[in-house]
Amino acid sequence: MAYEFTKEDLKEIENIKAKYPEVMPATLPTLWVAQRRFGHVEPEVQRLVAATLGLPEAHVHGVANFYTQYYKVKKGKHVLDVCTCLSCQLCGGYDILHHLEDKLGIKAGETTEDGTFTLNQVECLGACGYAPMLQVTNDRYVNHLTKEKVDNLIEKLKNGEELEYEQIKMPQHKNI
Ligand code: FES
Repeated sequence: MAYEFTKEDLKEIENIKAKYPEVMPATLPTLWVAQRRFGHVEPEVQRLVAATLGLPEAHVHGVANFYTQYYKVKKGKHVLDVCTCLSCQLCGGYDILHHLEDKLGIKAGETTEDGTFTLNQVECLGACGYAPMLQVTNDRYVNHLTKEKVDNLIEKLKNGEELEYEQIKMPQHKNI
């Protein structure tokens, strides 16, 4: 498949380039434009980004490969990154992961046949105090997960509902 940016994408990329004295720093945001457009940044897309910015393909490839947030292979419409690192693990992260595997009929690292969900098992996402948690497609964090909350989340995503940012409640300290 030949990938092409739309006119709007190209305008956005020009605006990004204009923010920097050199073109190289525009690599990251342009990769985001590409991922938003195509859903991934497979090697063909990386080549398009390189050609659009007039940069070596090896540079764009290196940047895209450094960050797990850039999808180097096609993923589902919604990517569920379930943390199973220490805090989340102790708070039931594996129960959540296995519940999602059962619910979606896939294993971690796989995508549902209809392309709606990709399920990943990931390392710490820096929200250990709200464990167990997951991240949806490089964006919203869903915290203090329970199986019911996960079921609700899946329904919302299937129905195309917008996810709200969760308000984090800080613990109350008596002497403060
Ligand atoms: Fe899960 Fe840190 S251990 S967010």
